[in-house]
Order: sequence, then structure tokens, then C-alpha cells
Amino acid sequence: MSPAEHHVGMVIGIVGAGAMGSGIAQLALESGDEVVLHDVDEAALEHAADRIRDGLARRAARLDLDPDSIDDWVDGRLVRLRHATTLAQVGDEADVVIEAALESLELKQTIFRALDAASSPSTILATNTSALSIAAIAEPTARPQRVLGLHFFNPAPVMRLVEVVAGPATAGAVVDQATALVESWGRTAVRSADRPGFIVNRVNRPFTIEALRMLEQEAATVEQIDEALRDAGFPLGPFELMDLTGLDVTYAAANGIWDGLGRPDRLRPSPIQAELVDAGRLGRKTGEGFYRYVDGRRAAVADRFAATSTGLAPSQIAARVLSAVDAEAHRAVDEGVAAAHDVDIALRLGAAHPQGPFEREAAG
Ligand SMILES: NC(=O)c1ccc[n+]([C@@H]2O[C@H](COP(=O)([O-])OP(=O)(O)OC[C@H]3O[C@@H](n4cnc5c(N)ncnc54)[C@H](O)[C@@H]3O)[C@@H](O)[C@H]2O)c1
Repeated sequence: MSPAEHHVGMVIGIVGAGAMGSGIAQLALESGDEVVLHDVDEAALEHAADRIRDGLARRAARLDLDPDSIDDWVDGRLVRLRHATTLAQVGDEADVVIEAALESLELKQTIFRALDAASSPSTILATNTSALSIAAIAEPTARPQRVLGLHFFNPAPVMRLVEVVAGPATAGAVVDQATALVESWGRTAVRSADRPGFIVNRVNRPFTIEALRMLEQEAATVEQIDEALRDAGFPLGPFELMDLTGLDVTYAAANGIWDGLGRPDRLRPSPIQAELVDAGRLGRKTGEGFYRYVDGRRAAVADRFAATSTGLAPSQIAARVLSAVDAEAHRAVDEGVAAAHDVDIALRLGAAHPQGPFEREAAG
């Protein structure tokens, strides 16, 4: 199925109606596909319906529609959204299921076992996992060749990137069909092997880890490092990014990838992350991380990080962080995680890099 062959009217099952599931549902509905949405939490389903309606309305406002027909456009898509009370119903009705429930292997395996039992042998079962192994999620099914990862980024309707992750057993035709599907939703697909962190979460790991190393070594301050990376074309510096994402989330991801790759020294999470997590200083959401926030706005660097500046030039700081990212990009390509071209696209669209590592290298 090429993008041209993908026609309106596929039935997309979505399991988990949280931030990701509702965003993915919106994308499918925008393109005229049908959505069968399932969640164990009734309130989550109601909240998702509101979010999807608002998201469709925002999308409609950007289309060149007659103002009178905006509501019709939204309603015309919302009629293709229905709720399923059971996983069996999702499996039974969907052509493709995308699971976006909680990040727990045990839970995902339970869900995949039930979907596998309820769906036709041709149904594709996809997971939006950020960090779990596709092979492990497919393991309880009788169709590992029809199981793959479709890793959307948050918020799904805004972020164009989708990492299409083939497990060791995934059939090439299934990867092609899933790629065509997400491309028909206006996404840009890159292909990743089933390796820890896939492309973005792994190759971009040194963006924060290397910055933390410089801080541990007192080679530069929080503010110097953030400013240097912003000057290099990034919308946020590493510490601003960690404060926004949440230290708990970043630290868990850092540990997961470090563990998954066999605990290499270069990606070892920083004691500074552990210290902040232990102290409950998780970033913006708690009012303090690397910076302090007052009424949701950044007030100053946190006392703990109010070091005096060092003599490093911003270009030296940025070069150190970026060369660590570049080295990880080379390692990932050498290990067969992805093609260099896909790594470039993934880092630009998934991590807001002004250029991909290989593009940067080619530009000298
Ligand atoms: N939030 C992100 O930035 C992001 C990005 C990419 C991938 N992911 C991954 O996507 C998945 C969902 O993340 P999220 O941020 O949307 O989480 P979320 O907490 O917003 O939503 C998860 C939803 O799953 C539901 N759920 C729990 N158990 C269920 C079950 N047994 N059956 C059906 N639904 C169930 C919950 O009620 C909740 O509504 C996770 O695997 C996560 O790692 C998240």
C-alpha cells in the first residue's frame, strides 16, 4: 500500500486515550479514517473526546474553509469516532491497532495478547512505546510479523515525526503499510531497528548527558551551556529542556537507555539528575529544577547552580555537546539502528536540531 493507495475509511483502533492516544486519534480522524478508541478509564475517554474536538477545530481553523462550514468539517470527522468498551471489540473492528496505554511491558503484553486473540490474522498491531522492546511486546502474540512500533512524538498532531520500528520478526510489507498509513496522516516516517531509545531518544541522549558532565566538572555553568546551545540554533538549551520535560522523566529515560545499551560510561546518567529527583526538584512542574519558576515563568537559576562563569567560549561549549551527539549518531548508524539520512530527519523533526548530525558534518 503506497500513500496513494491508502484510501479514506480504514478503521484504526486506539488503546489508551491519554495524551498520545487522543492525539493519534485526532490525526486519523483528520484524514477521514474511522477510530475505535478504548480506555479502561471512562473519564479519560470523555476528556479525550473534548481534546479531539478542540484539536479538530484548531485544525479546521487553519484550513481555507468558509467560516460557516468549520463546524460541519469537525462534526463530519467526529462522527467517525466511537468508543469501545472492550479490547476484544477493538481487535474485532480495527484494520490497524495503535496501543498508547501506560509504559509497562507487563501491561502492553496483556493488551497485545487480548488484541491478538480478538483480531483477524491480517490486522496490524502497533505500539507507541517510547522505550520498550517491540520483540518483547510481540512475544505473547501469534503474529510477531504483524507487530511493530509506531513511535509518535508529543503532541502527536503537531510533531511530524514518527519512528517506524521493526522488531526482528516484523514483515517488510507490514513496515511499508504502516509507513504509508502515517504518511497519509501527513507525518514523516523514519525507520528504526528495535534497539534501546530507537533513534531520537538515543542519539539525542548526549545533548543532556554531555551538558551534565560539563556541569559536574564545573567546566561551564547552567546558563552558559543553555545560552551556547541556543546560540547554536536550538530552541532550548539542555537544562531548559530537562526542566520542561521533567527531571523524573528525563532521568528514567536516561537510565532505561543506559541499561538497555549495557551501561556504557559515555551515557551514564548524572548524579546531579539523581540529586534533583530525590529532592523533588523536577523542573517547571514543581517550580524548581535547574532554574526557579515563579507563576510558571522562569525567575532565576536555582541557588544550587549559581556558579560563577568559566572562561569557555560558547562555541567551545556547543562543540563539546554536539560532538558527543555526533559520536552517538555514528555509533547508532554503525550498529544498524537507522540510516544516516533518517537520523538527520529524526533529530531535526523529533528533537528540534537545526541540522542533523550528518548534515552538520557534511557542511563542515
Ligand atoms: N507523553 C509522551 O511524551 C510520549 C511520547 C511518545 C510515546 N509515549 C508513550 O505512549 C504511551 C502513552 O503515553 P501517554 O503520555 O499518552 O500516557 P497517558 O498517561 O496520558 O495516557 C495513558 C492512558 O492509558 C490508559 N490505560 C491504562 N491502562 C490501560 C489498559 N489496560 N487499557 C486501555 N487503556 C489503559 C490510561 O487510563 C490513560 O488514559 C506510553 O507507552 C508512553 O511511553 C509517550
